[in-house]
Amino acid sequence: MGSPLQGSRRWFSTAGFLVVMCTAICTAQLSESFYSTTCPQLLSLVQAKVAEFITADSGIAGGLLRLQFHDCFVRGCDASVLLDSPDNTSEKDAVPNLGSVRGLSEINQVKAVLEAACPGVVSCADIIPLVARDAVVAIGGPTWSVPLGRRDGFISSKAEALASIPSPNDNFGQLVRNFAVVGLSVQDLVMLSGAHTIGRSHCAPVMRRLYNFTGIAGAIDPSIDPSFVSTLMLLCPQNQARNLIAMDASNGTFDNTFFVDVLANRGIFTSDSTLLSNPFSLQIINSIVTTPTFFLSNFAAAMVKMGNINVLTGSAGEVRLDCTKTNNG
Ligand code: HEM
Repeated sequence: MGSPLQGSRRWFSTAGFLVVMCTAICTAQLSESFYSTTCPQLLSLVQAKVAEFITADSGIAGGLLRLQFHDCFVRGCDASVLLDSPDNTSEKDAVPNLGSVRGLSEINQVKAVLEAACPGVVSCADIIPLVARDAVVAIGGPTWSVPLGRRDGFISSKAEALASIPSPNDNFGQLVRNFAVVGLSVQDLVMLSGAHTIGRSHCAPVMRRLYNFTGIAGAIDPSIDPSFVSTLMLLCPQNQARNLIAMDASNGTFDNTFFVDVLANRGIFTSDSTLLSNPFSLQIINSIVTTPTFFLSNFAAAMVKMGNINVLTGSAGEVRLDCTKTNNG
């Protein structure tokens, strides 16, 4: 059997399975001071643990950042991405996650520290965005405040993850629709795609553009800079779908290089390159390329917005004691 990533010509872009807990983004219900009396050490404990992870391997920042996206796009930011299932039907088992999601053990380690300090208080759904923020800051990226008070969900579905997480083969319209379902705009789509300034990808999501474009054997995606095609072919020979490549040319530095690359037809995914195909998103990319700080501040704002998607608050959900399972098993 091939890599789990290989089988997916296109991930589904509709969100038919999505259970929308709030029809709009639920900003008002979260608060930065949510744990100020129940776990006053929260922020410093998370920050210290993330600093340890980054010191050991700065590359893990990409995995920790991506985790927030993969959690929030499926059933909202409810830590559903962390749940295990006995029969391999949880989000972790879906193509967008299987074999590529990283940072799960790091989240569990942070949870263990927090359970020791403030037992039963801090939700896994709040740990994910705190860790994502601290990871970005630890590698020199922008910072933002993380409103807190999310509760953990009970359900994690492979089918929902497949339906809700966009595919690297998606075109502009598919991406816009996918983001709109969770209340995110075209500007959010562009800014959040800028997360691809760090981390790495397997070759699998890129292979189709190099060897089998539009399903034709030997066809190459004509929208990629030909010299970049040669580079990618060296890094990703046929049948080497599990090789790893950097997401942009300034590998590991949180900056606007991803957009410089995209503008030069050197985006690695169709979903990156397609951001050039619409006048409005192209205009945003041009602004980012000429004014790097425009990206950093707007990326931060979009992360906060993404962290508010369909959150469970109040008495909904629970605070899991173990992020990998619900409290009643
Ligand atoms: C716009 C739609 C998006 C698509 C289609 C997409 C797709 C992908 C794919 C296919 C990978 C490579 C996975 C692998 O093979 O290892 C990846 C990596 C990554 N994505 Fe996205 N992504 C999107 C948006 C986002 C967003 C919104 C974020 C976060 C805000 C994000 C953060 C990342 C990061 C940091 C990595 C590197 C992961 C690592 O180093 O382990 N992506 N993405």
